[in-house]
Amino acid sequence: MSDSTELPAPEKLPAHVAIIMDGNGRWALQRGLPRLAGHRAGTENLRRIIRACVEFGIPYLTIYAFSTENWGRPREEVNGLMRILEDVIDRELRELNEQGVRIRHLGKLDQLPSRIQEKVLSAVEQTRQNSRLNLNVAFNYGGRDEIIHGIQQMLKDQVDPEQVTPELVSRYLYTSGIPDPDLIIRTSGELRISNFLIWQAAYSEWYVTPTFWPDFGKEEFRKALVTYADRDRRYGKVSSKEYEGSHA
Ligand code: IPE
Ligand code: IPE
Ligand code: MG
Repeated sequence: MSDSTELPAPEKLPAHVAIIMDGNGRWALQRGLPRLAGHRAGTENLRRIIRACVEFGIPYLTIYAFSTENWGRPREEVNGLMRILEDVIDRELRELNEQGVRIRHLGKLDQLPSRIQEKVLSAVEQTRQNSRLNLNVAFNYGGRDEIIHGIQQMLKDQVDPEQVTPELVSRYLYTSGIPDPDLIIRTSGELRISNFLIWQAAYSEWYVTPTFWPDFGKEEFRKALVTYADRDRRYGKVSSKEYEGSHA
């Protein structure tokens, strides 16, 4: 049935959606606007997607907002992205709190300007009690940096090599305590991981759309969830039904 508001049954929804919010620059270029206008439009869209997660009952949303490689962009753009993060915290924190959103930060905080560090820490602290939607903001995040950081911590803790298991490694990552993403969405059509959640994505389902992030609204998000609900997540196994079918 193609009721355009239809959602998959709750048990078919992903518990954790992670999004590579890509294509802001191209969205702006298409309109003859500066790249930063694209980033601003991207934050407007983020607000729509957060609301949709709250409405659809998705408990975890992780957003890739600034990678460890994004420092290599022109200084003006980097500064603009820092300013946007600050503005978003200032403008949106109250409403996020009202919606029951708990904010966490993923990445290296201490390399960010000190004013931003304070704002991020304060947002995390102020929303600590919320539990409706866990919003993980990957800002100055890199998957390799995260793994190196985890290894360094393990060595400092003198972890016994025999005790290193996938569960232990997961506990040493920035995402400690957060389930692995079920669904990773990348907007703007790029077919690469770009250093995002490289450990956690081991068995995530992917959804890539050519739509640029500022245009990836609630309806497209719903379509991604419908597609996800139809996926057969095999985790390397063969179901007993398939096995019996092939031996009939
Ligand atoms: C994604 O949009 C946002 C960040 C990486 C901060 P881009 O800025 O990468 O947009 P494109 O890929 O150049 O279009
Ligand atoms: C990934 O997008 C990072 C974020 C969305 C924050 P990029 O635009 O930086 O990735 P590449 O350079 O196309 O791989
Ligand atoms: Mg990009």
